[in-house]
Amino acid sequence: MNKAIRKYLIAGNWKMNKTASEAEDLVKDIHQSVGQQTEVGVCICPPFTALETSARLLEGSNIQLGAQNMYPKAEGAYTGEVSPVMLRSLFCTFVILGHSERREYFGETDAFINEKVLASFESSLKPILCVGEKLEEREAEKTLEVVREQLEGGLKDVTSEQAENLVVAYEPVWAIGTGKTATPEMAQEVHAVIRSWLVERFGETVAHKIRILYGGSMKPANAEELLAQPDIDGGLIGGASLQAKSFIELVNLAKQA
Ligand code: 13P
Repeated sequence: MNKAIRKYLIAGNWKMNKTASEAEDLVKDIHQSVGQQTEVGVCICPPFTALETSARLLEGSNIQLGAQNMYPKAEGAYTGEVSPVMLRSLFCTFVILGHSERREYFGETDAFINEKVLASFESSLKPILCVGEKLEEREAEKTLEVVREQLEGGLKDVTSEQAENLVVAYEPVWAIGTGKTATPEMAQEVHAVIRSWLVERFGETVAHKIRILYGGSMKPANAEELLAQPDIDGGLIGGASLQAKSFIELVNLAKQA
């Protein structure tokens, strides 16, 4: 099926970077350059503490806001956590779930990530579900098995109707923040397997609407080739989303892809 039915999405995952006042400068620059275009979906995911400032600055633009995590309950005695309802009230559209850093440093399991995915849909947030293998898993030729298992677990009980609002991000763990990128062919191989899994699980029509982003040292120098692959529908950008110049360049490259 033709890739043209999907709009590219360039999403910036700021991770634990930028205070609210630092965010202000970055958001203003991004807004000024790519805030009005509609050809490419653009989303920024600042830390919780900069969401309100960012939301205010993005009002009236075409840039969407996302959070980097959430707790799968609407409210209650969960010290230190943030709920989907709270994120909606700050105009978040997306929420990154199951990022490898959360799996690794905070012990998040597929079952817990699944609770979050289901809760995000209930609050009309669009989850960006991250999957990806570690270096030792790639070396043991277990990449596809690991990715399938993360999809099975993370998307348990998700309906086809909900899946229309799903975004998947393939992020090979060994490529995150390391400067090592998967070659476009390596990435495409996994993206194609993710697509077939989605077809089996949600049917052709829905699966071909779901965007599969690549993440892992994506930057202007390597984005063009990655974005040209038939099943790469955008990027989840870490390091290169922290400077306006490189992030804007990535949006512009997606426009031309
Ligand atoms: P880098 O682009 O810094 O490698 O990070 C990728 C990532 O983890 C995005 O979620």
